[in-house]
Amino acid sequence: MRLKDKGIIVTGGASGIGEATVRKIVNEGGKAVIGDLDADQGKAIASELGEDRVLYVHTNVVDSHEVQALFQTAADFCGVDGVFNNAGIGAITPSDECSDEDWQQVIDINLTGVFKVARAALRHMLGNGGGAIVNCASILGHLGQSQTPAYSAAKGGVLNITRTLAMETATRNIRVNSVSPGYVDTPILSALDEESRNGLISLHPMKRLGQPEEIANATAFLLSDEASFITGADLLVDGGFTAGKS
Ligand SMILES: NC(=O)c1ccc[n+]([C@@H]2O[C@H](COP(=O)([O-])OP(=O)(O)OC[C@H]3O[C@@H](n4cnc5c(N)ncnc54)[C@H](O)[C@@H]3O)[C@@H](O)[C@H]2O)c1
Repeated sequence: MRLKDKGIIVTGGASGIGEATVRKIVNEGGKAVIGDLDADQGKAIASELGEDRVLYVHTNVVDSHEVQALFQTAADFCGVDGVFNNAGIGAITPSDECSDEDWQQVIDINLTGVFKVARAALRHMLGNGGGAIVNCASILGHLGQSQTPAYSAAKGGVLNITRTLAMETATRNIRVNSVSPGYVDTPILSALDEESRNGLISLHPMKRLGQPEEIANATAFLLSDEASFITGADLLVDGGFTAGKS
């Protein structure tokens, strides 16, 4: 029960890695608040896992007021001991074809949204004894990959926001870390055809995609008191993707 009695906000908790993390939090004895745009899926997860343990709050992470309301509602429901700052979208566009709108949408959600949620977390945690934040980065924050200009830029930004926030809070009982998944089998990859999917599989030394539960396990560790001396770190959960060529 590594998260017993902890209250944790999971943005993007209605699907994929976020949903798996909500399930993990409940299995580890905690309560979760899903901040997501997908009301049907968010409410269904809360209903399945128990409405005394999981709450869905409609939230667009780009909207500062909605983010603030998410924290207020979560504080009343279960307190906010931790935040998995995970909401994000995928985007594949050659750089020369990436429009201003394409660029801005990805940066707004995957980078500015992460900052807005982290800022709200700090404001709450600084007045409430501390907590733990885990930001969802990506292997594409570490490596370049063609056709992902905005996504890679946003994830590189997430890695460095993580370090900056960790420096600001290290003496204030707040830990800030990130996870960097390799390619994980979630709806974000649903646009890929079979050839592209197999191509991604072959890039991982383990020759498979990650499962959302494998990212959730690492995230739960970083959110837990077992990670009490870890801040400003990034945990790669990528089947060896970034370690080298196999
Ligand atoms: N799946 C992968 O291969 C992979 C790899 C590396 C990193 N990631 C990162 O993991 C995170 C989760 O991705 P996933 O694969 O589980 O995708 P997913 O599409 O299954 O889930 C993303 C969730 O975020 C929500 N969301 C999107 N925009 C939002 C917004 N503006 N406000 C609130 N919620 C919003 C969606 O409704 C959805 O429930 C993302 O940050 C993604 O970049 C995924």
